[in-house]
Amino acid sequence: MKKNRLDIILALTAMGSVALSLPVMAAPAEGVKVEPLGSNNALVRIMEEAPLLILPVQESVDDARVNVLVDGNLERIFYVRLAKNKVDYTVPLDLTPYKGHEVVLDVVSNHDRTSSRGIEGDACWKSIQLADTFDTSNREKYRPAFHHTPLYGWMNDPNGMFYKDGRWHLYYQYNPYGSKWQNMTWGHSSSSDLVHWNHEPVAITPDGLGTIFSGSCVVDHDGTAGFGKDAVIALYTSAGTSQMQSLAASTDNGTTFQKYVSNPVLTLPSEARDPNMFFNEATGEWNLILAHALEKEMLLFTSPDLKTWTLSSAFGKGEGAQDGVWECPDLFPLPIEEENKWVLICNLNPGGPFGGSATQYFIGDFDGHTFTADTDASGKIPTKWMDFGKDHYATVSWSDAPDGRRTAIGWMSNWQYAADVPTEQFRSVNTLPRDLSLFRGPDGEIYLASSPSPELKALRGDRIVSNRSFTAGKKAASFRLPASSGGLCEILFDIDASKGGNVNIELSNSKGEKAVMVFDPEAATISFDRTQAGISDFSPEFPAVTIAPTFSEDGKTSVHLFIDRSSIELFARDGRYAMTNLVFPAEPYSSLSISSDGKAKISSLNIYTLKP
Ligand code: FRU
Repeated sequence: MKKNRLDIILALTAMGSVALSLPVMAAPAEGVKVEPLGSNNALVRIMEEAPLLILPVQESVDDARVNVLVDGNLERIFYVRLAKNKVDYTVPLDLTPYKGHEVVLDVVSNHDRTSSRGIEGDACWKSIQLADTFDTSNREKYRPAFHHTPLYGWMNDPNGMFYKDGRWHLYYQYNPYGSKWQNMTWGHSSSSDLVHWNHEPVAITPDGLGTIFSGSCVVDHDGTAGFGKDAVIALYTSAGTSQMQSLAASTDNGTTFQKYVSNPVLTLPSEARDPNMFFNEATGEWNLILAHALEKEMLLFTSPDLKTWTLSSAFGKGEGAQDGVWECPDLFPLPIEEENKWVLICNLNPGGPFGGSATQYFIGDFDGHTFTADTDASGKIPTKWMDFGKDHYATVSWSDAPDGRRTAIGWMSNWQYAADVPTEQFRSVNTLPRDLSLFRGPDGEIYLASSPSPELKALRGDRIVSNRSFTAGKKAASFRLPASSGGLCEILFDIDASKGGNVNIELSNSKGEKAVMVFDPEAATISFDRTQAGISDFSPEFPAVTIAPTFSEDGKTSVHLFIDRSSIELFARDGRYAMTNLVFPAEPYSSLSISSDGKAKISSLNIYTLKP
């Protein structure tokens, strides 16, 4: 049938008579022929061989559906906001897989054509073009200098992270055709040091079962899944009409994946996603934790071969924070006081402590089949948060990390406004990598600590303030920050406010914008106010004050800040609390000032520039 259709198109064009009745098109670049077929449909013929087709995007319009026809067969479908009135930016379509074949794009736009103008007048046709390369240098003002982010396009959750042969692999929810959520694909980056990331080709692309939602990878050391020893096995959610779990295997260390022919491997009659699997040394079986999203619980499965999964239990119904869907789980043991406790990570959206999405966790025991959460003194399962900022979500950890490390990374945004932040050709950044550990809080409970991974020290440039100690009072002590080099810096100091009085820490620029942190030694909290930190008019949910417990009873805390072009991450007391917040200052913060309502001792103040 498809062949017939193509034949008809060819025949019509050959007749020539159709061309006469066509509206006049703004000529697209050479090698591309656009044939309008009506108000919302056009064919784009690729007439010359080239590696890329550059597609012009306008963010405010609806997605057009693009059916990619190769030799007349429907090869795949993707969605892109093809420009109607103006071009905001462009995205490339990779044509190399179709070299030597006839490529036609059947474009169906969803624009409201209230005027007489049809699809032929759309702005995209003036600049759609073939190209050899795509410029990814992307010098946007808010593009981070030392955080992981895609070269272009939209990113959300980190996925499938594993460590193998000295490399940290990081996949992520990716839209290669625009800077808003769509076309979910696994993008891929890898790093030898968690700091410098190589951008790799996309790893897993949508198919007949759906787009590729979040999931995990393991190194199958014994080849239990039948793809050979040390194959990398990915389990992800196929998001079609329903959500199902599918498997793909890589025998080239995670660069390319072959999908399992009998996918999906796990189906349920209700919405479930984001499979996270791991090998359980104690039971000799594979375990899987899966978010039963709308039921707000986690399902636990076992398997001998990663393909057949048996449900063993469910955890969480009615427990913890329940004001949103449960997503992106993780489950792993960590040592504390001569024993191992298990940490169950549960990302929640919305329902976070400051609105929107956030990461909660439970501490407990896991026998390979059932997770049993610890209760607090009142006998209840407490709600605990992994980060006390607004921009920390979908956090999961690397499998097979070396030296017994448990290293995690999160998506540094919030579903409330992720699609509206003031960036263009890329959208969203990951948090800095964090090493996780457990500690006992003053209330006797066990908590999860997130410390910046030690590799981050490699980013340090010059030490511009060195080991300063002073008493902070009403008059602020100020220090210059490296604003001329983008404001990128790391700031560390210790506060002793045991004599009382809040300590105010302010990052500011000459535009009067400021991010203000206040340590309250009596309440043992630290707050972060970004209401005046920079641009925030893109969303009413963005201006916010977030607050963290410092878990200290002695009026002391440490402060450890990482400042990138559009984010501030605060860590303290060996990761006992972390706070991650985006900020969009009109110009970099140029000053740090510290004051106190009482008399606080500030010691060991060090400021380092950070290398991009
Ligand atoms: C979390 C999430 C996941 C899902 C993915 C889709 O942010 O909603 O549950 O797999 O994003 O992109």
